[in-house]
Amino acid sequence: IDGFSSTGKSTLAKQLARYLGYVYVDTGAMYRAVTYFAMQNGYITADFFDKQTLINSLPFIKLHFEFNPQLGFAEMYLNDVNIEKEIRTIQVSNFVSLVAEVSEVRAKLVEQQQEMGKGKGIVMDGRDIGTVVFPKAELKVFMTASSETRAQRRYEELKEKGQEISFEEVLKNVEQR
Ligand code: DC
Repeated sequence: IDGFSSTGKSTLAKQLARYLGYVYVDTGAMYRAVTYFAMQNGYITADFFDKQTLINSLPFIKLHFEFNPQLGFAEMYLNDVNIEKEIRTIQVSNFVSLVAEVSEVRAKLVEQQQEMGKGKGIVMDGRDIGTVVFPKAELKVFMTASSETRAQRRYEELKEKGQEISFEEVLKNVEQR
């Protein structure tokens, strides 16, 4: 399931996976996890991004998903710590595009995603899934929506999580990503 951010990819993917009895893999969470790692280690701040140090640290980033039966989906773990909540903040959203641009990061994550897909029976979402990760997927769905609709979705999501943010800020972030 491919498409722009906040078009509802993960909502659809989760429902589809549940319906089919497949495993849902949120690849955006993986990019968010690497971003969170970079933030935690001070490799990325508002005016600074030490790309090379992040690249050198990639071997020390271990990502895995663990299914949470209460939530009905798999949560993201970074070096065996559950970071599902930490990766959904607007701060991570603001930095993730920079990290997702790094080709070494993409290569590592794409390889891991392709490995997860080897056994089939998965629903994966993300903007390069249909083109790069699984160009030969059995079914490809491309999703789109206006930036206002996308911002509204993300705004409600963040408000629900108790984050203080304006609609304008979310709109700017969505357009940027
Ligand atoms: O879907 P999301 O907003 O959680 O994804 C976070 C960011 O990661 C998004 O801004 C783009 C990037 N991303 C990517 O480059 N490739 C993917 N397969 C998934 C996400």
